[in-house]
Amino acid sequence: MSGNTFGTIFKLTTFGESHGSALGAVIDGCPPNIELDESVIQQDLDRRKPGQSKFVTQRKEGDKVEILSGVFEGVTTGTPIGLIIRNEDQKSKDYANLKDKFRPGHADITYQEKYGIRDYRGGGRASARETAMRVAGGAIAKKVLSSLGVKVRGGVVQVGDIKAKDINYETKNEFNFLDESKVEELKEFFAKLNKEQDSIGAKILVNISGMPSGIGSPVFSKLDAELAKAMMSVNAVKAVEIGTGCDVVTMRGSENRDKINKSGFESNNSGGILGGISNGDEINIYASLKPTSSISQKTKTLDINNDEVELQVKGRHDPCVGLRATPILEAMTVMCILDQILIDRGQCFNVQRDFKN
Ligand SMILES: Cc1cc2nc3c(=O)[nH]c(=O)nc-3n(C[C@H](O)[C@H](O)[C@H](O)COP(=O)(O)O)c2cc1C
Repeated sequence: MSGNTFGTIFKLTTFGESHGSALGAVIDGCPPNIELDESVIQQDLDRRKPGQSKFVTQRKEGDKVEILSGVFEGVTTGTPIGLIIRNEDQKSKDYANLKDKFRPGHADITYQEKYGIRDYRGGGRASARETAMRVAGGAIAKKVLSSLGVKVRGGVVQVGDIKAKDINYETKNEFNFLDESKVEELKEFFAKLNKEQDSIGAKILVNISGMPSGIGSPVFSKLDAELAKAMMSVNAVKAVEIGTGCDVVTMRGSENRDKINKSGFESNNSGGILGGISNGDEINIYASLKPTSSISQKTKTLDINNDEVELQVKGRHDPCVGLRATPILEAMTVMCILDQILIDRGQCFNVQRDFKN
């Protein structure tokens, strides 16, 4: 009910605020006998953590995770896995001027309206620091999924008008951009953006390969609906597309339907999902993230007394939140897919599936 838990069988509950003492999670329903230690989780947390390039927030957090329970002699026991990360680099005084003022585009006004109280330091629970524990949960789900041959990878495919053309998931650059040929253009773009004290939106692609068919349930739990919920639960995500996504609007049925032959589908406009059930093809999910609302340009806003005031946001912020979002969206994807596989197994364990894509 309170919205801090994700999943049905593989279940993640997170707790903690940006400037509180710690972030934590309980993962219940993880299969037993999965090899797990802190280093497995740490690898993914290190991909998400702030301060890794000059194009992201300069907050320095070690994000060192500790496993509190659910692992014995290097393997999961099937009991709840407790995780904790202590916060280290809080600079709460940067946020003192937000105590009584609502940042436009952030969650200050809605948290205040809903609960009548809010932890204004660093965005409290609405800060992207909360997502560290999603990445930790995702690292564990990924371990389970990889034993089933399912692989999830992703990266940035659009920043402003700069679009990736040749997608390469192995590419490594400070923008997490999947087309290396655009890196110089991105550097120039961000240099200009920083001078203008502004921010920009981005689009992330998450790809699932090795996906078994038959996963997802009609009708309210369609796999695309579950994935959209997983993605939309991430801060700043404003749109989710599957497969051909919004481009279906201009397509004809004759080109959009994916023809089927003995070796599988001839195209993948459906994004690997038909009727809410996976067809065994790759699943491509696109998530569009809005530009960071906390920029240092002065703005007009409202304070808690309902007076119109001027605000200049201080603190360390990401000029493009999308640059750090890939590990978070991958984590939500793996947890969602693993959960859906476990649900399918619960009901359809006796079904022989013959269609090999
Ligand atoms: C990886 C990541 C980093 C973010 N960093 C910031 C930031 O530095 N400053 C900020 O104002 N918002 C940042 N956000 C976005 C806010 O968390 C988000 O806009 C806020 O919680 C309101 O939620 P909504 O945009 O989903 O409505 C970030 C989001 C993500 C995914």
